Amino acid sequence: MTKYVINGGRPLNGEVEISGAKNAAVAIIPAALMVDGVCRIENLPEISDVTMLLTILKEMGADIRVVNKRTIDIDCKRVRTSQATFDAMRRIRASYYLLGALLGRHGRADIAMPGGCNFGGVRPIDQHIKGFTAMGASVNIQNGIVSAETGGRLRGTSIFLDVVSVGATMNIMLGAALAEGRTYIENAAKEPHIVDLANFLNSMGADVRGAGTNVIKINGVTRMKGGFYSIIPDQIEAGTYMAAVAGTGGRVIIKDVIPKHLECISSKLREMGVTVIDLADSVIVQRTGPLIRTNIKTMPYPGFPTDMQPQLATILCQAEGTSIITEGVWDNRFKYVDELMKMGGSIQVEGKTAIIEGVGSLTGAPLKAGDLRAGAALVIAGLCASGQTIVEGVNYIERGYEKMVKKLTLLGADIKSVFQPDESVAKKIIG
Ligand code: EPU
Repeated sequence: MTKYVINGGRPLNGEVEISGAKNAAVAIIPAALMVDGVCRIENLPEISDVTMLLTILKEMGADIRVVNKRTIDIDCKRVRTSQATFDAMRRIRASYYLLGALLGRHGRADIAMPGGCNFGGVRPIDQHIKGFTAMGASVNIQNGIVSAETGGRLRGTSIFLDVVSVGATMNIMLGAALAEGRTYIENAAKEPHIVDLANFLNSMGADVRGAGTNVIKINGVTRMKGGFYSIIPDQIEAGTYMAAVAGTGGRVIIKDVIPKHLECISSKLREMGVTVIDLADSVIVQRTGPLIRTNIKTMPYPGFPTDMQPQLATILCQAEGTSIITEGVWDNRFKYVDELMKMGGSIQVEGKTAIIEGVGSLTGAPLKAGDLRAGAALVIAGLCASGQTIVEGVNYIERGYEKMVKKLTLLGADIKSVFQPDESVAKKIIG
């Protein structure tokens, strides 16, 4: 088992480069299944969710060539199967994008129910299914397998999403790209990765318009050709480093970002007394004074992102006064709070609200990450705390953050990744 050992209390200083966006990459890789020809994808983050999806595509018959550590060529011409029922699928949430991609390409798909981060509540896919059903597919779920069939091509239609869903918007967009006729997705999500997927599809020959607004119009095409595409920078990875500097103090240049995508995070940090300066493709984050309490409500983009909620809750433990955080996207995303309490945090959770009483400073403790963003928040907590913090469950963190330990070390943090053989495994080997 790998753990992060952090000796906290050091300010962060220097420069950090942000990787490609996880939540764009995990949709763009399955989208390559729909393309006739080679897709060259650049700026892929080196994270385990990407590795897992590439492995799934390979097992389906795709040729994958590594051009360099951030660039790959994917050629799916030898993929004949419409089945993706591997165990790996159950470990990653974004495997649901294979449903839209395979339905678009073959008119049929059998995929294992997606797994992924479990931050407390249910993660339904009814809106994805509603979309594909409206487009003429029959969808069944049995024994953990989602099977969908159209008997031909999906048919374009108007789909009004009951909830603003990133996954349903992107999945329907995939299916619609090769559908017969025109599809409208109304009440669509507007996150930067939605625009990125649309740009990827368009650069391969699709006709997707309006991505980034709440109505997306897709004119189905009969084929997409190969091409090049470079993934956008990761808004949440950037936000996580911004939160880390806000928590520890110091001055860091967050490089290779799109400052516009960070506005929802930057404006909240400014309210908290942190200096954030936007440059062309970087932001400077600096904190010298105390953190000011604030309230946060998470919302779909351009609102404050739910994927930044645990990180900001963590640093608000250090602000003077009471801060209130309302989770507006997920039913339950406060499981990590118990870990912060072990560090002296004072947080009361009532339904979708967490009331944080600032305690000045946290103290190091042994902690366990239960999901990706909670894991990032616990690392930030460890960096801010006095004494030593040990974070377990780092496999969650490594699903979505490229080389976090190395990047933080370059900023002056005292953090090490330590491998410790699991005792039960060791006992079995020794006998
Ligand atoms: N929802 C439904 N029915 C559906 C789909 C969603 O009721 O069919 C509800 C969910 O229960 C939730 C809300 O709609 O309350 C939003 O869910 P959404 O579909 O937008 O989430 P997602 O697509 O499953 C993606 C990210 C999450 C991020 C959310 C919200 C990926 C792979 N995951 O999930 O990212 O929290 O959007 O922005 O893109 C993360 O990166 O750590 C992460 C969890």
